[in-house]
Amino acid sequence: GKLTQDELKRVAAHRAVEFVEPGMTLGLGTGSTAAHALDRLGELLRAGALPGVAGVPTSLKTEAHAARTGIPLLPLAGAGRIHLSIDGADEVDPDLNLVKGRGGSLLREKMIEGAGDRFVVIVDESKLVPRLGCTGAVPVEVVPFGAPHTLGLIRNLFDGLAGFHARLRTVPAAEGKEEEAPFVTDNGNYIVEMFFDDGIRGDLRDISDRLLRITGVVEHGMFLGMATTVIVANKDGTVAVIN
Ligand code: A5P
Repeated sequence: GKLTQDELKRVAAHRAVEFVEPGMTLGLGTGSTAAHALDRLGELLRAGALPGVAGVPTSLKTEAHAARTGIPLLPLAGAGRIHLSIDGADEVDPDLNLVKGRGGSLLREKMIEGAGDRFVVIVDESKLVPRLGCTGAVPVEVVPFGAPHTLGLIRNLFDGLAGFHARLRTVPAAEGKEEEAPFVTDNGNYIVEMFFDDGIRGDLRDISDRLLRITGVVEHGMFLGMATTVIVANKDGTVAVIN
């Protein structure tokens, strides 16, 4: 029978874990696909198959999950060399650029995955896109101070671009409260979501530089030139490993 999307995520995750060797320090990704890799790693560690493997978690959620599943954890500072990171993505373009962070994590992911030797991205085929920003938000992490001001500066960057809009990510109002509250990241920051009608056209590096030059922007969810391998689980049951 046909594999469900979650089964495809697991197939890609298990293939990535085949790259893990004894003694490696890993960047541990965040999200529903990366969660399958954590479970698989935990299994192999408990079976004694991967002695000396430890992980650097890219979010508080992953930290808790990895601890539960028995993966020894290290902080980024003091981890030493990170040999391999494994994480999902929201979108992958033909040049293996990514959108990440729709789950709310991106800053720790970028710090850790950018620091390692190898970054293996695991996706089902629904994540492959012709252009970044095609299927949903491109998140930008901003400091809470003056966040509406920073949102205005981000809007100015794309002034006049048809179909562009940006908003502060919120969570539904708490019971008995009127107003929805800002979504807060693991780092105590807020998220601005940028939407592009038909994806981002133009020089991604240039757009990245301009975003990062805005004081108040901490980081964004475009991961450019970072992925070294992308593992794609296809609906027809095949798995593609793209380098
Ligand atoms: C976490 O915020 C993200 O960067 C995830 O890595 C990304 O959203 C992929 O998540 P799923 O594997 O759940 O689609």
